Amino acid sequence: MIKKILIVDDEEMIREMQKRYLEDYGYQCFLAGSYDEALILIGQQSIDLALLDINMPGQSGIELLKETKKRFPDIVIIMLTAVDDFNLAEQCLDLGADDYIIKPFSLSRVLVSVKNALEKQRLFLAQHSYQEDLESQLAKKVEKLKASQAMLIQQEKLAAIGQLAAGVAHEINNPVGYISGNLSSANKYLSKLIGYFQQLDEIHKQLPENLKLQIKANKKKFKVDLVMEDLADLFAESLEGTDRIKTIVHGLKSFSRTDSEEPESVDINECIQDALTIVQNEIKYNIKLEQNLGKLPSIIGYHQQLAQVFMNLLVNASHAIEQEGVIKIKSYLSDEIIIVTVTDNGCGIPEENLKKIFDPFYTTKEPGKGTGLGMSITSEIIQKHGGELAVQSTVGQGTEFTISLPTMFFGKTETDPISRGIDI
Ligand SMILES: Nc1ncnc2c1ncn2[C@@H]1O[C@H](COP(=O)(O)OP(=O)(O)O)[C@@H](O)[C@H]1O
Ligand SMILES: [Mg+2]
Repeated sequence: MIKKILIVDDEEMIREMQKRYLEDYGYQCFLAGSYDEALILIGQQSIDLALLDINMPGQSGIELLKETKKRFPDIVIIMLTAVDDFNLAEQCLDLGADDYIIKPFSLSRVLVSVKNALEKQRLFLAQHSYQEDLESQLAKKVEKLKASQAMLIQQEKLAAIGQLAAGVAHEINNPVGYISGNLSSANKYLSKLIGYFQQLDEIHKQLPENLKLQIKANKKKFKVDLVMEDLADLFAESLEGTDRIKTIVHGLKSFSRTDSEEPESVDINECIQDALTIVQNEIKYNIKLEQNLGKLPSIIGYHQQLAQVFMNLLVNASHAIEQEGVIKIKSYLSDEIIIVTVTDNGCGIPEENLKKIFDPFYTTKEPGKGTGLGMSITSEIIQKHGGELAVQSTVGQGTEFTISLPTMFFGKTETDPISRGIDI
């Protein structure tokens, strides 16, 4: 690119002479005879270098040097003066001038000074941009590192909660086992008692009238019929309750099991079921949950991580629904790809935020409710399994996340992407 030089001197002849000479060497020159003219040109043209005469009527070259450096610190400045004064030269250099030439001068001296100063400027700018580049790369790495660190902490927290849950599940398992066993036995005994009372009723029919009346009164007094009927309901409900506890405990146990180092055979529908068991309590009563899980082949991967993906999506969907709503989870196989969709008819996500939701720490929830890490962890787990995560959303209508997982990912790739860890 042609370099632009501004020549400032109150003597027109000197200006013209320098211009002709420098233009022969391929520079584009602009001329100014005063402080004001010079500042206008500097503002209008992107001047690379200025040759400033110190002694000018009105404001001197020193003033111009100060002002130019203040407004355009990158411009290279060479001072020209008729006075051979060391202090003045030193002052100019201190103010940011690059060179100081004493009149009368040879034009070749000016040319050498111009070339040197421009080369110095080129090197300075190159170094500056290199440094900026390095700094921005460093800042990006630091950001990425912070995000990975936060994700690791979150994962670790989840793992710790998982372990705790596994411990609790184990502890609950035994008492629930015998409560459920005892309830079953007691229920069977109740059937026997009911049978026995029915037989007694038959016998009572043959008794004399006064005894029959007495028995009837006692039955009424102790509400025997009602108790019998209610007992059967109580047992049925309690058994249903213990069955539910058993399912939750089973879900907790399989959800909180830590994945082994090596990927294993995983049933995606099982991961979904585990996630559903865990989030069922989180999902509000006003939300209807519809599942439509198709027949799927097993894939190779990490059960607990994949269950976490569905848990994150289901929890987000339930948070998105303010009043009544429906969350649908569907799985099916399409061309050897497992597809899972999680759809809600909640608040939706504005178009401009759709990309941001995968950024670590991006949350629209109040502190304590959201960490902003769910979606970034989710997308990372899906990527690690060679899959894709897509989102479609309409504000006010709802959101649909679609996960596509290849069935043969770990079998086909040479390097194991999971063992690579987080790439920073
Ligand atoms: N199903 C959804 N409906 C509406 N917004 C959602 C949904 N899923 C995610 N989001 C948006 O994406 C943000 C990031 O989600 P996430 O990473 O899970 O963090 P968090 O749930 O902790 O806020 C949420 O705060 C929310 O704004
Ligand atoms: Mg979330």
